[in-house]
Amino acid sequence: MEAIPPAPPRILIVDDDDSVRDVISVLLAEEGYNCVVANGAEMALDVAGEAETPLVISDMKMPGKDGLWLLDNLRERLPDTSVIMLTGYGDTESAVDCLRRGAVDYLLKPPKLTDLIRAIERALAKRRIELARKRYQKKLERKVRDRTAELRTAFKDIANTYQNTLLALVAALDAREHETSDHSQRVVSYTSAIANIMGIQGKELDEIGRGALLHDIGKIGVPDAVLLKPGKLTPDEWMEMRKHPDIGFQMIQNIPFLSTPAQIVLSHQERWDGAGYPRNLQKHEIHVGARIFAVADTLDAMTSDRPYRKGTTFANAIQEIKRCANTQFDPEVVRAFLDIGEEGLVRIKLEMAERKLKPLEAEARAQEAEAELERLTEEDDLELTPVPSAPPLSGNKVA
Ligand SMILES: [Fe+2]
Repeated sequence: MEAIPPAPPRILIVDDDDSVRDVISVLLAEEGYNCVVANGAEMALDVAGEAETPLVISDMKMPGKDGLWLLDNLRERLPDTSVIMLTGYGDTESAVDCLRRGAVDYLLKPPKLTDLIRAIERALAKRRIELARKRYQKKLERKVRDRTAELRTAFKDIANTYQNTLLALVAALDAREHETSDHSQRVVSYTSAIANIMGIQGKELDEIGRGALLHDIGKIGVPDAVLLKPGKLTPDEWMEMRKHPDIGFQMIQNIPFLSTPAQIVLSHQERWDGAGYPRNLQKHEIHVGARIFAVADTLDAMTSDRPYRKGTTFANAIQEIKRCANTQFDPEVVRAFLDIGEEGLVRIKLEMAERKLKPLEAEARAQEAEAELERLTEEDDLELTPVPSAPPLSGNKVA
């Protein structure tokens, strides 16, 4: 079967002079071009818009709107249409102006047929290359957009996996102490609420939240005999216990996305007045995340029930924290904390409890995360290094 030859390109000839217009269109039609005509700039703009018109050949001087007006309007409305201008003898200034405004070529009137055809072929070839370049550019842009979206999803997945890993780590610690992980997560919520009021946002807020979540992670390194001891600790045992900020810091400081949380872990037992540990830091020497955490941790400790005592009211805890501003706590943090108010704090606690009451949702999220991990492992052919086995979960006392 014979291939159908491509349709000849549509060329619009614009001239107010009927004879020039007709001669050019007849000659070009004989050469196989598909010619349409217009007797003025405004009509030409309409005709060019009716069907795909790769090329317009236009006279420069016409009554009413002239060739330059047509050129400007074509460039703006039909940027894929090329324009060749016909200029009068001695009008080189206008010719240069045409090229500057985006015409592909100009010819002196009356043009020789061979010159005209050469100019037309040049213009059409240039246009084909330009269109191919634009198509390539668009394809490239689409590819970049798609890849960026994929990367963003991958980053989100990684961030979720990080977060779930941290939660698992904290849950392991809580299980060892026979605690639920509610405490750590409530402290994160209180910490974030105070930080928010202090104007902390975005990455800094996330890092402070992570520091709060991991604050006691170093207790993994405290012996069971000390951590789970039912009675009071001896001075030596206290020495052991007081190592936990340092142990926690050593554990995570070299993980790049945990370097700031590591600072909070190291400083979470410091006090505003310098009476804390392990470095006796004071005031602004203490990381702001740790200063905020100290208030959040005290609030949760006071308002939570323990096996050996019932938690106090939020009103009492607020009074106590207020009393300790300037000694144990940063007064600016206490001010932000007081801004949340009793009602706000109770709401945070209720929200955390509600979240816990939705096990189905949590289960679904866990399954999603597992499926995602499996997909990542299979698709990306990740080589997982074996994880060392966890320390035994032993002991029988809440510290
Ligand atoms: Fe601690």
